[in-house]
Amino acid sequence: MLHGKRILLIVAGGIAAFKSLELIRRLRERGAAVRCVVTEAGAKFVTPLSLQALSEDRVYTDMFSLTDENEMGHIQLSRDADLLVVAPATANILARMAGGMADDLAATVLLATDKPVLAAPAMNVRMWTHAATVANVETLKKRGVTFIGPNDGAMACNEHGPGRMSEPAEIVAAIESMLAVGLASARPLLEQPLAGKRALVTSGPTREAIDPVRYISNHSSGKQGHAIAAALARLGAEVTLVSGPVTVADPTGVRTVHVDSADEMLAACLAAGAIDVAVCAAAVADWKVAKPSKAKIKKKPGAQPPALDLAPNPDILATLSKPGTGRATLIVGFAAETENLVANAIDKRQRKGCDWIVANDVSPATGTFGGERNTVHLISATGVEDWPTLAKDEVAGRLAARIALHLARPRSAEAAE
Ligand code: C5P
Repeated sequence: MLHGKRILLIVAGGIAAFKSLELIRRLRERGAAVRCVVTEAGAKFVTPLSLQALSEDRVYTDMFSLTDENEMGHIQLSRDADLLVVAPATANILARMAGGMADDLAATVLLATDKPVLAAPAMNVRMWTHAATVANVETLKKRGVTFIGPNDGAMACNEHGPGRMSEPAEIVAAIESMLAVGLASARPLLEQPLAGKRALVTSGPTREAIDPVRYISNHSSGKQGHAIAAALARLGAEVTLVSGPVTVADPTGVRTVHVDSADEMLAACLAAGAIDVAVCAAAVADWKVAKPSKAKIKKKPGAQPPALDLAPNPDILATLSKPGTGRATLIVGFAAETENLVANAIDKRQRKGCDWIVANDVSPATGTFGGERNTVHLISATGVEDWPTLAKDEVAGRLAARIALHLARPRSAEAAE
């Protein structure tokens, strides 16, 4: 998707600079050429040598280096690029950009450029919410700079809140979106591409009562579904998250409805009303106990263990996917499999009538259930996309960006997807 594109990556001095190495790797994997400019402070967090090794190009640091100016003037650096990406964009570089400063090579290139600029802010939450930064960001947005992030979460400075740089996969997806829709119309699409859209996400396991104290359930942690709900909300969607019993916290900016059983989950989904997109990430129990006992089943000495008479649960994904006027534009299911992953998932997409399936291997060896990472394949009507192993947050960010791109596209473009 990024073949032939040239990206000038400006690395400023923040702890998130380490993520720029991953960003370069991912951009190059997709065929983009990446050239780096690093600020003096940026070089304290990530060495020019590492940037050079991954970009396989010279790294530019100094405005007053005769070799730099001889080989590649600062104007030429921006002329040669299709897009400038500032990642991490610290409070300091944003202030210098807003102030029109040209006090180092990075700021000078940014002042001299007529190319689109994407900034991925990363800073302490108080710096991000400080009136000075807020005003600088406003100014830069008015001048046409596009922003991605920052994300909410735990920060290196032991605080919590907005300030974490977007994950490399999210930045790559944003760059791909910018280039797919044309640079001119990219900005509103990127900032809140799902504004005005309603999303429904199911997450976690369900709990099927045997009696008032015992139940049947599974190991789903809800981490992936919750991360997807948060990622959709970050892109501006109005999100209802229907969650089975989990220990992960309710995501911020999301309406979370807590349920126990599959029947309750289905009822909560139907009560969510009209939606544009549904992501069914919950591990819904396939069976429930046909007639749960009203009282605790007693253990009688010498007696046989009681038999459990099971009945099928409603299939929430299949129910939401039924064709009809109220059907969401896009319905995404998950397939957790331990063998024949892709073949089973392709079959599942057709059986359930959903549009996409995110297939993930949940063999115990992968540590997917309850773990932090996930290796998935995205299956649509047009084929199978293998994604690399990513943190669950990254899978969520990437999926949310793909959903935004899909909902933003005219039907004709979807066929070519
Ligand atoms: O049939 P299976 O459980 O493998 O299908 C997985 C997908 O279907 C997931 O997206 C899951 O959330 C959804 N599902 C559902 N209701 C069920 C069973 C599965 O929504 N009763």
